[in-house]
Order: sequence, then C-alpha cells, then structure tokens
Amino acid sequence: MVSSSHVCRMWLLWLAWPSRSAAQESVWIFRYFVERMDCKVGTGEDNLWNDLAAYLQPQAASLERLIVLSSTLEDVLMPFGIVDPTVALGCPLGTSAALQELASMCVQLFNERCIQRGLRLLHLSKLFMLFQFNDFGAWFSFSRWRTDMQRIASASQELHQVAKSAASIGAVDVIDPSFKQPDWRIGLVTYCNYNNSATNLTAQSRSSKGAYAKRHGYKLLHIEDPFVTQAHPWMNKLIAIQRNLQDYDWLFWVDCDLFFMNPEKTVDALIHAAFSRTPEASLLIAEDGMMLNSGSFLLRNNAWGKDFLARTVDLLSAPMPQSFQHMPWHEQAPLMYLGLVPSVLEGLSSNEMLTPGYDLHVVLLRQRALNSYPQELVQKTQHALVPPALGNERQQFSAFTGGP
Ligand SMILES: *[C@@H]1O[C@H](CO)[C@@H](O)[C@H](O)[C@H]1NC(C)=O
Ligand SMILES: *[C@@H]1O[C@H](CO)[C@@H](O)[C@H](O)[C@H]1NC(C)=O
Repeated sequence: MVSSSHVCRMWLLWLAWPSRSAAQESVWIFRYFVERMDCKVGTGEDNLWNDLAAYLQPQAASLERLIVLSSTLEDVLMPFGIVDPTVALGCPLGTSAALQELASMCVQLFNERCIQRGLRLLHLSKLFMLFQFNDFGAWFSFSRWRTDMQRIASASQELHQVAKSAASIGAVDVIDPSFKQPDWRIGLVTYCNYNNSATNLTAQSRSSKGAYAKRHGYKLLHIEDPFVTQAHPWMNKLIAIQRNLQDYDWLFWVDCDLFFMNPEKTVDALIHAAFSRTPEASLLIAEDGMMLNSGSFLLRNNAWGKDFLARTVDLLSAPMPQSFQHMPWHEQAPLMYLGLVPSVLEGLSSNEMLTPGYDLHVVLLRQRALNSYPQELVQKTQHALVPPALGNERQQFSAFTGGP
C-alpha cells in the first residue's frame, strides 16, 4: 500500500516537471527549498504572501505604496493588533522583503526625515532574514522575494554613512561620564557558565566586574549556576535579571565576556544621559554596525521594564517555529522585535519628523559608551556585513572579548 501511493506521487511529480534528465535530479531538492523560501508550502496565510509577493514587484515610490506597505506590515507584525511575531515568522523572508521595500519607499519619499527610521526598518528586515539563515543561507536570492543579505547590507551601509554625517545616530551623548547619583540603587548582573578547565573567563569576569562594582558602590550579582539547567544560557540571562530587578532601581546587564575598560566612567552617567532625552527612559542600549546589541544594557525597575522583560521571556519560550528560540541572536531577537514594533511603523503618513523607530522607553546610547569592540575584532570582521564606520567606535567603557 505504502509503495503504491509513493509511486503515484512520484508519477505526479514527474508530470509536473518538464525535464527528466538524470543530471537534474538535484533540482528536486532545490525546488523544495525555493518553495519554502517563497512561503508556498501551506503556512495558512498563503494568500497574504502571494498578494505581498505580487505587490513587491518593482514599482516607483509613491505615498500610496508606502501606506499600503505599512498597513500590510501592521497586519503581519501585529495580527489583530497584537504585537506577536507568529504570522511574520511563518514567512520571515517575505516579512524581510516588505520591510526592506518600506525602508526604501520611506527614504525615497522623505529623504533626511527618514534616515533614522529607514535604518531601523532595515535592522528589523535583517532580523527576519537572518531567522532563516541556517536553513537557506546563500540561496535567499533565488526566492521570489528577490532579496539577500548583501542587498540589505549595502542599503544599511549607505544609510549609516548618511546618518553619521548628519551627526547623530539617534543616540544620546554622555556629557559627564563620572556623574554620580548615590540615591539610585544600581546592580550589575551577569551569568557565566563556562567550563573552568577550558577557560578562565569566569574568574576574569568576577575579578573585573567585582573591582568596578566595589569602586562605585554597585551591587554585583555574578551568577555562575544555572536557574534552569535544561534551558539555554540566554534564558538564564533573562531569568537572572527577572529574579533581581525588584531589588534595584536599575539593573545593568553585562555579558560574561564583557569587561570594564575605564573604571572612571559610571553607570549613573549613562542613566543621567538617558534622562536628558526622556524621563520615561527604561531600556538603555546600544547598536553596533549591524543592529541592536544586547551584550550589555540597562533595564529600569518600573512597570514598562518588567512587562518588556516578561514579553521577551515569553517570546523565547514559545515553541518553534513561532519563537525566536533557536535563532543565533537569542534574546537579542525578541528585544529588537519588542523594542521596534509597533513604533517603527508609526507616523509614516504624517508630515512630522519621524522618530528613530524605537519605543519611546528605549534610549539608544552610543556604542562607545556601552558596548564597544576591541579594534582587533572590528578589523577581523570588517569584511562581513559591518560598515567600516564601526572602526571609529573606540575609547570603550566596556569591551567584548569574543570569548567562547
Ligand atoms: C572541560 O574542559 C576540559 C579541558 O578542555 C575537558 O577535558 C572536559 O571534558 C570539559 N568538561 C566538560 C563538562 O565539557
Ligand atoms: C588561567 O589562569 C592561570 C593563572 O592565573 C593560568 O596559569 C592559566 O594558564 C589560565 N588558563 C587559561 C585557560 O587561560
């Protein structure tokens, strides 16, 4: 029985395919991949993706096109008005292509009004594209979305250059780097879970962070045992923050492999700088040449901060494929998604200056203030996707070691 239905299916497939030469058999697999990239494999929203693919055929920029794309993306990124990536993750490449096109329309129509916003639309577009990088990698450009990493990278690089020459990447400057406000209860939290016979990273982290915390009177929570053994380290990272936030006004998350390079500079100064932008500041974080980087960030103990954290944990806990659980960016993916949606789609049809695209509680700090990379690492990775401008981000407050 089994074999006869198998034969029958094979026969149908042969009929559907015009050429039968043995040399083309590998094409079968290829076609299956392309159909998956194209989102033609019964995601439940096939009509949506078919319509979108048709709409994304090259066309001149117009306000109408911008508005149609923006409202389509609202449906995709916030089905029924709820910020939930389920639909978008059903077709990450289609979502990515639509975001890319929206960024392009916005910049073409609004020029400098949309430089910041255009960059953030591209960041989100990259996030969705990278969601399937392990599955499809270099084959993206064979899909009907006609997109690939190179295309996004060069578009972002152009915008990044323009944004830099316009003096601002939307980040606040730290005017007084040794500012202190003794009333603020500030905690440093990290989670180190490395094999101590293979690396000294845990001991080095404890020593560097300990010395810095002691100097400034911050409490250090150097967590070395998992809360949840069967979960990935990044889940333990989020749980470490969640369990301790209520005891502080601000928690400063620092990855185990981040080091304080300049002990004079204070955490208070970062908060002070963010408050100069808005009293609502609740998540202070920096971007690198690629996108948001969650290697270090400050989270405020308030209703927004707690809710944001809880939603991030939810998004990492949801089963695949509707979660960011197995994405190589881990907690960075839900942080970006929740930080940018819905704000990245707001105000596009008004005549006002567009915000950079983040939720108003998110304040960007410059990379050199919060999470700069050592020059050697920047040089090593410069060839790939990273705008050369990154090389200027020196004089670090803390630095990424690129550890195991
Ligand atoms: C830890 O590292 C050592 C040395 O590299 C290795 O022999 C050992 O198997 C590792 N232990 C675990 C639990 O991975
Ligand atoms: C760890 O530190 C000790 C002494 O501080 C040193 O002897 C050892 O080689 C270091 N191990 C690694 C893996 O770096």
